[in-house]
Amino acid sequence: MISIDPVVAATALGAGDLAALPTETVYGLGGLASSESAIARIFEVKGRPRTHPVIVHVEGPQDLQHWACEVPASALALAQEFWPGPLTLVLASADNVPGAITGGQPTVAIRAPAHPLFREVLRLLNDDTSAPVGIAAPSANRFGHVSPTTASDVEHELGDRLRPGRDVILDGGRCVVGVESTIVIWTERGWRIAREGGITREQLGRTVELRDDSPTAIRVPGTIASHYSPRARVLVPESLSEIDVDQVPGPVGLLALADVPDPMGWVRLAAPVSTEEYARALFSALRRADELALATVVAIPPTSAGLGAAIRDRLDRAAF
Ligand code: TXA
Ligand code: MG
Repeated sequence: MISIDPVVAATALGAGDLAALPTETVYGLGGLASSESAIARIFEVKGRPRTHPVIVHVEGPQDLQHWACEVPASALALAQEFWPGPLTLVLASADNVPGAITGGQPTVAIRAPAHPLFREVLRLLNDDTSAPVGIAAPSANRFGHVSPTTASDVEHELGDRLRPGRDVILDGGRCVVGVESTIVIWTERGWRIAREGGITREQLGRTVELRDDSPTAIRVPGTIASHYSPRARVLVPESLSEIDVDQVPGPVGLLALADVPDPMGWVRLAAPVSTEEYARALFSALRRADELALATVVAIPPTSAGLGAAIRDRLDRAAF
């Protein structure tokens, strides 16, 4: 089921089957946006409620018009600046977008992923049709679980729910960003961040003016608080001095920047040296905590600058 060949993945998608695809953020469970049955299977395989909309993945800014009924100049500017890359734009959807993708909402989420294998899959499929191809793809995890950042994570999450000989997991190595895309929503009063992610608030602010209400003030289906939950209890102190290390129920795992020493007897889940490396290690560290059947994960987040905001958001959800 695992392949490294984009042709194999494009062929499966073209036949209406599913392909888990690598992106720079996390792996997605992809199906052709134009295939009603493929979209239905995505929801079934993930165990995800049908009212949760999914992101349509496209080749580039030129495809925006096909999916959105109105493309404001600032949307084009964002796409030109940050695509291919970890930014998802939510715009008023065009009439042709299936309700199964939008969750029945009047909007559609669109992004051009940067991973070269995903781009090759899109290019191959676009070669075969005149209308631009879209691949609907939520993160390739079971509903409520931690997003996968390697092909074997996907196999572990969904392997028993995919169809052998038909569905494919395209192995593109470990995801380089490690947290999902930033989602921005266009409203009549401007752009709002609905989910912190791989493109930072600071970066966005250089291209558009953001309304600075907090992301949690906006209800995005599928961003419910309990997402990204490992089985272990997750504590998110600002430093070890905030907790009584002897009282934490063990076995305990520690996720913190390398300059934080681990208390005696704790398992070191990751010791990243930068915020970027922290983001890359985050989800696999949470997975490892489950594999090791840890009772508690203590995660000391980096500062909230840059990718730190997205890391803190995911840790807070994991801790919920
Ligand atoms: O990095 C990512 O964004 C990854 C990779 C695979 O592209 N995808 C991802 O998809 O994280 P998913 O489905 O796990 O999360 C997408 C989020 C969901 O919370 C969903 O509710 C929201 O995007 N979303 C999708 N369409 C939307 C829409 N029209 N309006 C508001 N939120 C939307
Ligand atoms: Mg997800």
